[in-house]
Order: sequence, then structure tokens, then C-alpha cells
Amino acid sequence: MLVSTRGLGRTYHTIRGPIVAVDGVDLEIEPGEFVVICGRSGSGKSTLLGMIGGLCRPSAGLVSIGGTDLHALSPKGLADFRARRLGFLFQFAGLLPNLRAIDNVALPALLGAVEQPDAYERARDLLGQVGLAERWDAYPGELSGGQQRRVAVARALINRPALLLADEPTNDLDEQAEWEVLSLLQDLHRSHATTLVVVTHDQALAARADRVVTLRSGRIVSAPRPAHVLAEVASRNAAVAVADSAPAGPDGPFEAGPDALAAVVPTPPGAGFVRFLLGFLGWVAVAAGALYACDTLSARFQGQAIERRVTERKKAEELAMQQLRADIHDVVYQPDGGYEVTIYLENFAPDKPFYVLGPELRAFVQVDRGWQPIPIRRADPDNDNDRVQDVRGGRRLVPFTLRIDIDRYDELIAGYFHLRLTSVMVVSESAEPTDDLFERTDDYYVYLKPQRLSDDDIRARNQWKPGAIVPRWIPMPAH
Ligand SMILES: Nc1ncnc2c1ncn2[C@@H]1O[C@H](COP(=O)(O)OP(=O)(O)OP(=O)(O)O)[C@@H](O)[C@H]1O
Ligand SMILES: [Mg+2]
Repeated sequence: MLVSTRGLGRTYHTIRGPIVAVDGVDLEIEPGEFVVICGRSGSGKSTLLGMIGGLCRPSAGLVSIGGTDLHALSPKGLADFRARRLGFLFQFAGLLPNLRAIDNVALPALLGAVEQPDAYERARDLLGQVGLAERWDAYPGELSGGQQRRVAVARALINRPALLLADEPTNDLDEQAEWEVLSLLQDLHRSHATTLVVVTHDQALAARADRVVTLRSGRIVSAPRPAHVLAEVASRNAAVAVADSAPAGPDGPFEAGPDALAAVVPTPPGAGFVRFLLGFLGWVAVAAGALYACDTLSARFQGQAIERRVTERKKAEELAMQQLRADIHDVVYQPDGGYEVTIYLENFAPDKPFYVLGPELRAFVQVDRGWQPIPIRRADPDNDNDRVQDVRGGRRLVPFTLRIDIDRYDELIAGYFHLRLTSVMVVSESAEPTDDLFERTDDYYVYLKPQRLSDDDIRARNQWKPGAIVPRWIPMPAH
């Protein structure tokens, strides 16, 4: 068994209450297996993959990889484990724009302390395997989307991972590029016997997998079936649910009241009073029935209305999680010794406005395995932070400045700060939101080179060769 999860769960705590993203997942994956995880948007796929890859912490349960209890490791132990044993591919290539293709591929090996010539030899070899031998010195901006993705595949494999985790690796590619990347993944799986876990909506890829695991509302749906069968069942279920909650018809329990009552009581001759009483009781039963029916129907109606709103809000939340991208744009040095971190917000929903309050950013540096808060403030104080802003068309950049006057800190890469930035914003679909707002929290992790250390200091501390590239900041996947 390479991967084993037990009762794995994660709950996000938001101002609207808890969201259970993954709920008690037991999953076992054999070495060399090719598993596809599918499910509707918001079903918990990325969260599950993130926990298997040690990128985010479970709220419940265990993940073991090759017998190592992942989340029991220290932060440094976990970072090392991830770097040495795991490879990641994300929805977006995530290459560093100021490094050439070959540097991007070699970087994880260099960070894992592989000697520079070895790292570059491996990188060259992998670029050959992904069909980009000739383009080794191209910068990401000079490569097509599919080519960038292939560089990302090469980068994910540089440390020869036992397990490659991919989250919708062909998300925004055209068909040709998608086919190339998928074929490449499958070839690599065959030739390197790498265990592959891929989150995808792609049916063609699912058909090529050894096993398809389907998630619904954070749980594994036991019988693995193709997604279109599940979709049909879901739409049939929805139709049945509507039929179930329809108002009671003429055969309903209440209208039968008086007749039923009359039928069971024999009519004694001349018993006018008894007939009157029975008639009266019958009408009381009808009235009570009608009242009860009204009550029940209005409760049902309200129930349906609430359910509809909850579903709509959930949809809006999912859209805002998926279509409103927020990430670090850049980190630059400031003349006064501080740092400027710019967050970008970009709305990928073509016609949907998002109104955002914030973001607010908090910053922490890892010290003695804990997170020490550091002062941070909006760099554009004129920009009214209390105003709800429409995010549409292009990127909105939000700059922050921070100071880090800490001498002793945890160094996962020698010399670098391990920085955590937590952004909190309130998102709504309407400009004057009433109850359709919700809070979105994102954590970003970066390694940041302190201003006071020169490139040579960093190279010396990490035993990197002279001339090796020393990035100012290195974005890390969430963890
Ligand atoms: N940082 C967060 N804060 C609050 N809620 C979150 C956060 N990340 C995810 N969620 C919620 O958790 C649930 C599962 O999200 P997840 O991203 O795992 O879904 P997914 O299956 O990968 O969806 P998709 O196919 O759209 O990528 C969703 O309801 C989502 O809104
Ligand atoms: Mg996802």
C-alpha cells in the first residue's frame, strides 16, 4: 500500500459557519496505480488531494504514505518529505516567470540539495522526455499553455517522486494540448511506474485510469460509475425530490376525512342528533385537516425556498472559490528595508460580477515551528478598504508593505524566511449584499530571501554553485 487514508476529513470555518469539504474518507492506493478522482465542482476533490499531498492539514483522520504518518511530521520533516517523495501538478502551470524552462525544472532538485550539474542534467533529460529539448532556454512567457504545462510535468518529476498528484492538470488547455499532456502523463506512468492520482473532469482520462474514485459532498460514492451515469441518477433524484414535496392531491389524507368517518359509523334509525354530531365532527375534522394541510404546505414551501437559497448560495460560493482567483502577484524589496507584497484578484467568470470587500492580509514568519505575526499594512491607504469593489475584467492588484525584523527564524531553505500570508475577504455577487456574502480565506506560503542576505550568502549557505540562480521569492503550494 502506498497511500492509505483513514477517516480523513477537513472542515473550513467561515463566518457563515463550518463547511465540511471532506468527510471521513477511507482510501487505499497501491504503488503504481493510476487513480482518477472525479466529482462535481465543490465536492472536495482538491481538498482531498491537498491532504494526501500534505499541502493542507486534515481536521480529522490520518494520511499515511509508504508507512509515514504525514501529518505527524514536523513542518520541516513534511517539507522534506514532500520535496523528496511527492510531485505536484496544479490547474495552472505555476512556473516562475523570470526563470528559463530548464531553471524552473531544476529548481526543486536544487532546493532538495542535489548538486547543480546533476540537477541540470536531470532537467535536460526530462525536458527531452516532454518534447521540449530544443526550448530549454525559453522563458515561460515565450511558451504556449501546453508547453508550459509540459515544463510543469518535468518539474514535478525532477525529484523522482513515488507519487505524482495532479489537480486538473489540463484545465484551461485546448484539445490538442490537453491530449498531449494527458498522453505524456500516461506514458510517464507506464515508463516510470509512478503512482498517479489525478483530479479531472475529463472522461477520456478517466477511461484510461485503473480506478475512478467519485466524490460527492466530501464522501466517496462507493460504486465507481462513469460521471454521466451519476449525473443522470442525480437529475432523476432531483425530479423525484420535487415530486415528493408536491402538495397533497385529492387522494391526500385530509380530504378523505368526513367520508371515512361516515363510512365506519352505522346510522341508527332516527338518530338525528347523532347524525348532527357526526356531521359536526366531520366538519371539525375537515377544518382541522385544512389548517394542518395549510401549515404543512407552507412549511414545505418555506423549506423548499430555503433549500433553493442555500443551493444558490452554495453555487455562488463555489463560483467565487473557483472563478475568483486570488494569489500573490509579486514580492519586491523596498528601499527602507521592508517588502512589498502584491496580491492579485482576477475574475474568470465571463459575465459574473464579484463584489469584494478587502482583502485584509496577515503575515507570519515561521519561528520555532510556530508562526510569529509581523506588522503588515495596505500600501495604498487612499484606496478605501471599506468599500465593496467590483472585480471584473483584468487583474486588480492590492499592494501591502511589511517589515521583518527577526534575526532567528526557521529556515526550510537555508537563509530564506518561511512566510505565511493569510488573506481574508468578503465576497458577494451583488453590489449591496444582504445575506449573500461569504468569507473567503486563502493561505499563501512563500520562501523569501531577506534583503540583508546577498545572493552569494544564499549560495554559500545552501552550497549552491557560483552563478546558480537565487530567486528573491519562491511560491510554495499551500500547506
Ligand atoms: N479556503 C476555503 N475557505 C472556505 N471554504 C473553502 C475553501 N476551500 C474550499 N472550500 C469549500 O470546500 C468545498 C470543497 O472545495 P474543493 O476546492 O475541495 O472542491 P473541488 O471538488 O476541488 O471543486 P472544483 O471541481 O470546482 O475544483 C467547497 O464547498 C468549497 O467552497
Ligand atoms: Mg478543485
